[in-house]
Amino acid sequence: MKKLYGVIGDPISHSMSPDMHNDAFQALGIQAHYQPFHVKEADLPKAVEGMKALGISGFNVTVPHKTAVMPLLDEVDPLAQAIGAVNTVVREQNRFIGYNTDGEGFLAGLMAEYDGDVLSKRILLVGAGGSARAIYYTLSQKGAQKIDIANRTAARAEELKKRCPYPVETVVLTMEEASNKLANYDIIIQTTSIGMSPHAESMPLSLDHIRSDAFVADIIYNPIETVLMKEARAHGASAQNGAKMLSFQGALAFEKWTGTMPDPSRMETIIYNKLGG
Ligand code: ATR
Repeated sequence: MKKLYGVIGDPISHSMSPDMHNDAFQALGIQAHYQPFHVKEADLPKAVEGMKALGISGFNVTVPHKTAVMPLLDEVDPLAQAIGAVNTVVREQNRFIGYNTDGEGFLAGLMAEYDGDVLSKRILLVGAGGSARAIYYTLSQKGAQKIDIANRTAARAEELKKRCPYPVETVVLTMEEASNKLANYDIIIQTTSIGMSPHAESMPLSLDHIRSDAFVADIIYNPIETVLMKEARAHGASAQNGAKMLSFQGALAFEKWTGTMPDPSRMETIIYNKLGG
């Protein structure tokens, strides 16, 4: 009998995960199917209970359930606990264990393209929302030494810094301060929604002072190339979009479920095809 995996969220029809995972199951000859489930907020506890009763082998969790699902699980991994969000649930016998592969997916995607030791570099994190938290805590847990944070709302960045359970050197900056000091950074990680379609013409900060050997990782994948990425390249710097993070978070979830790491580039190709080539 095929094993069943899935993703819960609201909305869910836009999710690229079913195509990514079903392709990987097929490519690796694994007898399994991945199904999207549209779950409303009020139905979340019943849905998780139902997943267990039906013998579902594992599932992803997306917006708006990533935090609300945590108390419904039997165990939550310490990194996911620190991030305050679960995107991957693994079944072990009759227990559901929650993980967060968003930050690890980001790091793996960056390491796949960045020529150098990411963790020893001077990093600027732009934004202080949910995605920034996953990336900041994961990079700190893995041993990053220097991550400054620039955010529109300084209090949110201060809160992120204060609650980080892992040792890392961090200064909180305004966007303007970060722009002026940009030459200090090797890697700039963009996590805000600025530059995302339909507001694709904007940038969160000026890149006038970026170094030509710097690397910009924008977690936006729609558009495929943000104005920030274009601007970085115009200054001679390198840039990647969020398709790497999206494909690697999926690949790492798949690995947790099956013990086999799928080819992330196949998942990335599916993302690009879905985005229209
Ligand atoms: P996500 O889960 O995708 O990270 P989020 O938690 O809502 O989303 O965080 C959005 C991030 O984008 C925040 O850093 C937010 O800045 P604030 O903390 O000041 O709200 C940032 N952001 C969104 N719209 C913005 C805008 N118009 N100008 C500046 N920052 C913006």
